Amino acid sequence: MDTYELIDLALTRYSPKEVAFALGVDPKTVRRWHLRETEPKPYIADAIRQRLLPLGEAPTGEAAFRFIDLFAGIGGIRLPFEKLGGRCVFTSEWDAYARKTYAANFHDGPEHSFAGDITAVHEDDVPDHDVLLAGFPCQPFSIAGVSKKNALGRPHGFADKTQGTLFFDVARIIAAKRPKAFLLENVKNLVSHDKGRTFSTIVDVLQNELGYRVHTKVINGKHFVPQHRERIMIVGFREDVPFDWADLNLPALEDGPKLDSILHREDGTEPPEWHCLEGAKGRVSDKYVLSDKLWAYLQNYAAKHREKGNGFGFGLVTKKDVARTLSARYYKDGSEILVSRGARKNPRRLTPRECARLMGYGDTFRIPVSDTRAYKQFGNSVVVPVIASVARLMVPLLDQIGTEAAPARKVA
Ligand SMILES: C[S@@+](CC[C@H](N)C(=O)[O-])C[C@H]1O[C@@H](n2cnc3c(N)ncnc32)[C@H](O)[C@@H]1O
Repeated sequence: MDTYELIDLALTRYSPKEVAFALGVDPKTVRRWHLRETEPKPYIADAIRQRLLPLGEAPTGEAAFRFIDLFAGIGGIRLPFEKLGGRCVFTSEWDAYARKTYAANFHDGPEHSFAGDITAVHEDDVPDHDVLLAGFPCQPFSIAGVSKKNALGRPHGFADKTQGTLFFDVARIIAAKRPKAFLLENVKNLVSHDKGRTFSTIVDVLQNELGYRVHTKVINGKHFVPQHRERIMIVGFREDVPFDWADLNLPALEDGPKLDSILHREDGTEPPEWHCLEGAKGRVSDKYVLSDKLWAYLQNYAAKHREKGNGFGFGLVTKKDVARTLSARYYKDGSEILVSRGARKNPRRLTPRECARLMGYGDTFRIPVSDTRAYKQFGNSVVVPVIASVARLMVPLLDQIGTEAAPARKVA
């Protein structure tokens, strides 16, 4: 690819302003390059590769298996399946900023398509695949309506039970494409929601209406990262395979890592990341330290709730601790995970890079969005090594499932 083509490619992912910012030039210059009016300096090609495009090249050749990535976010579920030899052939994510992070980290060839709103995609337009991945957003309230409908004696079937929920979109794609396997991920609360009825409906649809062998398990991210984060994994196979959660290789909870493994070292041994770290030692920038006003507010709020006997309040941690669950609202006040800087100093928030590490993302993962967006994206994401442990159980079993899919079941 020559430099002009690299510029064009970068412009399919970023605006001229963003490309200009990353390359340290004026947006007008980028437009002129794009129109072939002026010639970029030779170093621009490398700068684009390093700063704006995913590392490596788009995959080529035969893949071990093909998968699709629904409600993809920033691709946390995709990462381990790709590492195990899978080729992503379809992604759906409607948030423009999540797409930006995704595009900065994954290279896709011509056989891959990227859709926005999955509810607007017809299942026949989804490419054939072996594995369906979906960290679907939790909207169980609509599913909860099922029991009422049943009580009223209304007809119910998979479509009727779940229509209007995003789980329906997952189910209708499974029904039409009949992948060999799927992995669905959600918050632990899904299991107990509406006295367990929501979860039973989901499992019932997957098992009895779509005919998959379903295995479920709540896994705590704390096995792998210094964060308490419990999530339900719903694994399904189209045929009988010897899948057993007992084979899951989870490090002992008590041996799990502590926060010192993810906090910036601040000793000059880390490459400085543009705005998070400062000076030769890579000290965490003061902008992450809580203001006096916010810190006073959080302490008063916690004290009030303590008086009432509630456990609400901030979570102050040191490097020897394990953090609470990082949420998508962390950008607001950071209260669930505040890093202590000693008794006399205001604590600080985690930086986006520390949040990435807390979710098990490697340091090569690119964060091309603002801090606010990055906090939301990591707070919504998965603990990557948890997914990796499940993927390692699933992938070897794919070969035991016939390639000829059973006839598609049509949504009623
Ligand atoms: C819980 S997050 C999944 C995060 C993902 N597993 C990751 O590792 O980053 C759910 C994602 O679904 C996306 N989403 C919600 N409704 C959608 C829709 N109708 N079509 C496509 N994406 C949707 C949200 O923007 C969000 O990024």
